[in-house]
Amino acid sequence: MTVLVTGGAGFIGSHFVKLLLKKNVDVINLDALTYSGNLENLKEVQKNKKYSFVKGNIQDPKTVNRLAKKCSAIVNFAAETHVDKSIADPASFIKTDVIGTHVLLEAARKNDIRMIQISTDEVYGSIPKGSFSESDPLRPTSPYSSSKASADLLTLSYVHSYGLDACITRSSNNYGPNQYPEKIIPLFTTNAIEGKKLPIYGSGKQSRDWIFVTDNCRAVDVVLRKGKKGQIYNIGTGKNVNNLDVTKKILRLLKKDQSLIKHISDRPGHDQRYSINNSKIRKLGWKPTVTFDQGIKTTVDWYQQNEQWWKKIKTGEYLKFYKAHYKKLGL
Ligand code: NAD
Ligand code: TYD
Repeated sequence: MTVLVTGGAGFIGSHFVKLLLKKNVDVINLDALTYSGNLENLKEVQKNKKYSFVKGNIQDPKTVNRLAKKCSAIVNFAAETHVDKSIADPASFIKTDVIGTHVLLEAARKNDIRMIQISTDEVYGSIPKGSFSESDPLRPTSPYSSSKASADLLTLSYVHSYGLDACITRSSNNYGPNQYPEKIIPLFTTNAIEGKKLPIYGSGKQSRDWIFVTDNCRAVDVVLRKGKKGQIYNIGTGKNVNNLDVTKKILRLLKKDQSLIKHISDRPGHDQRYSINNSKIRKLGWKPTVTFDQGIKTTVDWYQQNEQWWKKIKTGEYLKFYKAHYKKLGL
């Protein structure tokens, strides 16, 4: 079996590539190496004979088709993923997350191969209490979640119109080693190590269901092997932690003072709470194995031990974006 993994140089994709290789599956990794793509995430496998890397864009049908011909499945992680960036500049989200997914769907259809579309719990929108199941309506609120919801609908339309063998996974917020320092956990961990402020949007009472990245990757692998055609699978732990508690845990692990916390203006249209019901994926034999306390310790340790990985990132264009971003938010 050869799997075309797109976005395999990013955070979740790189962990997934390593999982497939461990299972002796051949992998072709197609990645455009945008700002968040990083081949250092795959250093330990770059010489593996079962692994090959192609630098290319999922919006390019020629490249995608050439690679899809050699594969029996596509797993699409490639995307623009940061809510704040999508609010500042939505266009690239529509191009990659919607048009790019369409190119992959076409290639899967033409070559009659399986496709797993990696989506997010954000497509359901916020829920004050309880949790969403897979049949609930989509109410995305940001340009990011709307572009992912569009890709989900396109994927389902390919199942219904062409009989494409596709599944969708909707996972909750991932965290772990190798996450680009724009999402709250790696941003706050690296800021705290540098003695910089941790800018919490609004009250900090917003909450997420944090899943350790390798737990999500194991679930995606289960869906790749056992998921039923046309089905959607939520992937989450069923437990929420609010942003203030996440932040306090990071500071405690780093033995840093809580005075680094700084409340700033809220994110526009901030989704208060995401929560999904995971009983469907559990029926395929999966369950989460890493508690938040274990996972956050592993993550904070990794960022402490791998300063060379993130210090290179937190320069140039990265700093320019944050300077403008925080100016707007009053930091
Ligand atoms: P990431 O930003 O770390 O990685 C994205 C990867 O895609 C990068 O390597 C980038 O170079 C590549 N890429 C971007 N545009 C591309 C294009 N046009 N062609 C080819 N490659 C391209 O993101 P991530 O956090 O690893 O997210 C991966 C997937 O998981 C996304 O689809 C995201 O929507 C989904 N997801 C993420 C989370 C999360 O908490 N991070 C939660 C749920 C779902
Ligand atoms: P983020 O990691 O951007 O993921 P998402 O918005 O996709 O859930 O944000 C997680 C939560 O942390 C969210 O409620 C917004 C909040 N947050 C902050 O308070 N400050 C920050 O600087 C960032 C990046 C996020």
